[in-house]
Amino acid sequence: MRETVLDLQNRRSVKEFKKEQITDAELMDVIKAGMNAPSGGNKQSPIFIVVQNPEWIHKLSVLNAEIAGAPKGVDPFYGAPTVILVLAEKNVGDPVEDASLAIGNMLNAAYAMGLGSRWINRIRQTFETDLGKELLKECGYEGEYIGVGSCILGYPANGYPGPLERKNNYFKIVR
Ligand SMILES: Cc1cc2nc3c(=O)[nH]c(=O)nc-3n(C[C@H](O)[C@H](O)[C@H](O)COP(=O)(O)O)c2cc1C
Repeated sequence: MRETVLDLQNRRSVKEFKKEQITDAELMDVIKAGMNAPSGGNKQSPIFIVVQNPEWIHKLSVLNAEIAGAPKGVDPFYGAPTVILVLAEKNVGDPVEDASLAIGNMLNAAYAMGLGSRWINRIRQTFETDLGKELLKECGYEGEYIGVGSCILGYPANGYPGPLERKNNYFKIVR
């Protein structure tokens, strides 16, 4: 129990990944953590598209960089071998809240397992493009989805960054 809380307090995002792919067992543990996040009214609105195909990751990376207005050659996914794109059913419950919690669970689970992870943005815009729609179709998803974020995964190439200073007015206790 205490270890879980310490993992939540110590979690950090990473930007440097080994090329080696994570195991399917590790991937499933992260996915299950995401699936077991709370959802508004238990609507379970999110879906996860796990991309491990290098060609697809490349295409998504180029698009993501384009959306970000990043210089050519920048990889917004930092070379991570796994990219989990998280969307949610547009008209069901609380899609953005549900998907964000699912991503949070995945980031925390990844850290607890010694994996590197990071939320990468611009996924809403990604799924407004033809490429995003093609990917959804390839996965057999029909209906309306909103892209919320992504969780990149891999083995950290250089461990985790040290503690990050948090702002000193994060909370007030009203008694
Ligand atoms: C909503 C959201 C969007 C983010 N988008 C990006 C992103 O596009 N690229 C990136 O490198 N990191 C992104 N991050 C990661 C943050 O930069 C990172 O969480 C923050 O610097 C705090 O560091 P920590 O996660 O190690 O605590 C995002 C995080 C969140 C929660």
